[in-house]
Amino acid sequence: MDLDFSGRIAFVTGGGSGIGEACARFLAARGSPVIVADVNAEAAARVAADIGGEALTLDVGEEEQVERAIAQAWSKQGPIAVLVNSAGILQRMLPPSKLSLREWDSVARIDLRGTYVCCASLGTRMAAQGSGAIVNIASVAGMRSGPLHSYGPAKAGVISLTECLAAEWGPSGVRVNAVSPGFTRTPALTRGMASGALQETRLSGGSAMGRLVTPEEIAAAVGFLASDLASGITGVNLPVDLGYLVATPWATYGGLRQSPGRGEA
Ligand code: NAI
Repeated sequence: MDLDFSGRIAFVTGGGSGIGEACARFLAARGSPVIVADVNAEAAARVAADIGGEALTLDVGEEEQVERAIAQAWSKQGPIAVLVNSAGILQRMLPPSKLSLREWDSVARIDLRGTYVCCASLGTRMAAQGSGAIVNIASVAGMRSGPLHSYGPAKAGVISLTECLAAEWGPSGVRVNAVSPGFTRTPALTRGMASGALQETRLSGGSAMGRLVTPEEIAAAVGFLASDLASGITGVNLPVDLGYLVATPWATYGGLRQSPGRGEA
């Protein structure tokens, strides 16, 4: 019982960048043949070449494309043991008067519907074979209110979906869990900071540990939940947020105390 994924094929959506890329690398380094699925063909090919995996171009919002790609991968490479759903897009922080329904739909289509489509296609096959582990990337934004009127509800939906499918497929031996990252230094977040929409000091300062999460820290939690070490765990949502969720209410009381190491004892 360890973090050995030898011979266990993993399918990682959004595997061409950020958290998905870190998950693909983590699993491959522990023996998993990884299928790197991403809408960005070049990114998927780069990561797959690096880790000795297979690249697959795929838009998780297109159910027929997903079903076809998964059916092909399953028959060509063999049963898939692990699914990581990391494909996702962030959202502009607009009030409802400025947030078009087009943008609202596009975030929900990829982040929530796309996660469901991949779960439905692969999870059904895993359930038929009697085993499998799915890890969905949700977000702390799905656990607290924020100015993200599509992204927040979509991620809350991913957490709910994780619970529903864990109960659905538990009797068939398939575990379904979620990881909710805090602010994580990925290309998507870096773009948000470069545009001025997000400030690194605020993002870091919001967490108890005072920094950004690394994609590798998310991948380690995903790897644990996908592994046999977590054989007793299904239907949970594990925040990997450096204490963002526990630290934010302290703002009401004047903020976190200074570390004795850094300030007064
Ligand atoms: P990223 O932009 O670095 O990577 C996302 C990848 O998903 C990209 O390679 C992109 O091409 C792919 N992708 C986007 N739409 C797709 C689609 N329709 N079909 C297939 N692939 C698609 O972003 P990052 O930051 O690594 O985000 C990964 C996941 O983590 C997302 O679900 C995001 O919501 C979630 N997350 C990220 C946080 C952060 O602070 N970076 C915090 C909480 C959650």
